[in-house]
Amino acid sequence: MSTSGMPSVDLLGEQIASVLADPAATHGLARTRRAAAKEIELHRYHSSRRAWPNGRIDEKPAKVQIGGGAHRIDSFFNIDLVPPADLLWDIREGVPLHDDSVEEIFSEHFLEHIDYPRSAKQYVREAHRVLAKAGRIITGVPDAAFALSQHPGPLDTTDETIERWYAKRDCRGDINTRLDLVNLVFRDQDDDPTYTPHLWAYDHEKLVQLFTEAGFTTVEPWTFDLTMANPKRRWGSVYVVATK
Ligand SMILES: C[S@@+](CC[C@H](N)C(=O)[O-])C[C@H]1O[C@@H](n2cnc3c(N)ncnc32)[C@H](O)[C@@H]1O
Repeated sequence: MSTSGMPSVDLLGEQIASVLADPAATHGLARTRRAAAKEIELHRYHSSRRAWPNGRIDEKPAKVQIGGGAHRIDSFFNIDLVPPADLLWDIREGVPLHDDSVEEIFSEHFLEHIDYPRSAKQYVREAHRVLAKAGRIITGVPDAAFALSQHPGPLDTTDETIERWYAKRDCRGDINTRLDLVNLVFRDQDDDPTYTPHLWAYDHEKLVQLFTEAGFTTVEPWTFDLTMANPKRRWGSVYVVATK
């Protein structure tokens, strides 16, 4: 037991590992336990980092990329759950940077991976807090309006969306109708334990609403710029730039 009387996270982790090791564990149980095991790993990491004064790191980077994964931008301070980020951090716990200190935040194909409304709205409010006056946040996500505009309709198996987004994944054989492509934008999921699913879908209107609600003064379409963006995200995505 922990001091709060809750079963300790370490004990929970051990129990989950033993359930996962049992070949008799049902598919549903194993699937939910894998998700819990992943959260426990993140929790352990973050518990050790909360000692930072006021939850802020010492650095004051001017440009920050959130959720860049393997797409590091060298002139930016990269924050992600996984390497090769400069800071391994779970953004659902806040943005660990100082108030009014950042000029520009960039993220693409990240926002749809965190839960809405709690984490998504908190992230946007945190971005507003850390940005300096007139600072900008650029956000790109898979465009739900684009996926919906093609539905209903027949699906050609050589469809460009499949080629560009899913050809390298082993889900290709499971994209059988146009609605499967719509589903992937809204709830992309995978039995691969390292995969973070899509939890919410966005279009231009939703992005404008989200950033306006958090206090940004303007929210405009962003012109794709290869000096920061991942080239493979150009197609089928919607980007906005919101200014504080
Ligand atoms: C689909 S990848 C996109 C990577 C990159 N932006 C790109 O476009 O190629 C989503 C990224 O968001 C990161 N991510 C998901 N949830 C996160 C969280 N709570 N905190 C920080 N990063 C997160 C993942 O680790 C992953 O690198």
